[in-house]
Amino acid sequence: MNRPIPVSLNSWIKIKLVLQTHAIVKWACYVGHSIMHCLVTGGAGFVGSHLVDLLLQSGHTVSIYDNFSSGRREFLSHHGDNVAVIEGDLLDLDAVKSAMDGIDIVFHLAANPDIRLGTTITDTDLNQGTVATYNVLEAMRVCGVKKIAFSSSSVVYGEADVMPTPEDYGPLFPISLYGASKLGSEALITSWVGTFGLQAWLFRFANIVGARGTHGVIFDFIHKLRADPSRLEVLGNGRQAKSYMEVRDCAMAMIHLVTNTDDAINYYNLGSDDTCSVSRIAEIVIEESGLSGVSIEYTGGDRGWAGDVPKAMLDPSRMRAAGFDTKYDSEGAVRHTAQILMKEIGIDDE
Ligand SMILES: NC(=O)c1ccc[n+]([C@@H]2O[C@H](COP(=O)([O-])OP(=O)(O)OC[C@H]3O[C@@H](n4cnc5c(N)ncnc54)[C@H](O)[C@@H]3O)[C@@H](O)[C@H]2O)c1
Repeated sequence: MNRPIPVSLNSWIKIKLVLQTHAIVKWACYVGHSIMHCLVTGGAGFVGSHLVDLLLQSGHTVSIYDNFSSGRREFLSHHGDNVAVIEGDLLDLDAVKSAMDGIDIVFHLAANPDIRLGTTITDTDLNQGTVATYNVLEAMRVCGVKKIAFSSSSVVYGEADVMPTPEDYGPLFPISLYGASKLGSEALITSWVGTFGLQAWLFRFANIVGARGTHGVIFDFIHKLRADPSRLEVLGNGRQAKSYMEVRDCAMAMIHLVTNTDDAINYYNLGSDDTCSVSRIAEIVIEESGLSGVSIEYTGGDRGWAGDVPKAMLDPSRMRAAGFDTKYDSEGAVRHTAQILMKEIGIDDE
């Protein structure tokens, strides 16, 4: 007869630790084939901080590089010492080089996130987008880091006449300075692949929305309603319609594609294949606010500002074919975000 083997409490703790470690490694192997040391530029930002959450959950080691111009320390504080935080500016090439020690992959997310800024200040996107990307690539070349994942945008397509827009749509004529900096960054990255043997993932994001949002249409509407609960000003005629993606869907998609695709240049639209109009977003935000009698006032015109792309609908079928699908469609992502940001920002105490 098999007798149970007596096991001391200490041994149980050790066995439990080994099993837990195995579970983490098994999970990391499942999601990432191997554990990576990731550097996330812009890791204290809206998308970056969610990416950090999910990379850590997947068992990877994470350092972030951020100048905290729009990023916030509290977005990472729940990780304690599990994230190495490097405070620095990407325009400081020597500092970027120092951050590359031991890194397997760079998730390059840091940039100016405000498309409208380019209408008044014309060199921000050039510096914070294109030059910053050059510095990341040059530091990688010098330090021998071979993999980069980049947060590009649907705005590289400009006013596309094919919708939903697939990744091979062209020619690419962006209409904003931000869009130009994204396309320029993509070109720099592919040139580093061709010339210095890097491997790249280019992710063309839809509009990303969700918890910790610090900018964008839902964020703006909530702040406007806090300031004046009787009216909501909407830029343009409200018929602008774009694809929206929930932020954790976006971060999960990035990790999934980086770990499950392996070409020299991997490029994907990240989004859902539907759209939500600005007037529908206004309605959803008002519904979720619980306010009544709010009048929606349109400033008029077919777009929010010069350089705004009024209609954008991504074709995400390549992302799906690679094995990832979103939890939310566009309207679902918008409503979920309105609910969460309403709690984070508050609606009635400005
Ligand atoms: N949020 C969206 O809807 C969306 C859509 C398409 C593309 N993107 C891209 O995704 C990335 C992340 O956007 P986000 O919405 O999280 O914006 P965000 O402003 O929250 O994040 C950007 C982060 O980069 C940091 N940063 C900016 N300039 C820097 C510099 N010179 N050096 C070091 N750190 C710097 C900021 O402090 C911030 O933490 C950006 O590249 C953005 O262009 C975002």
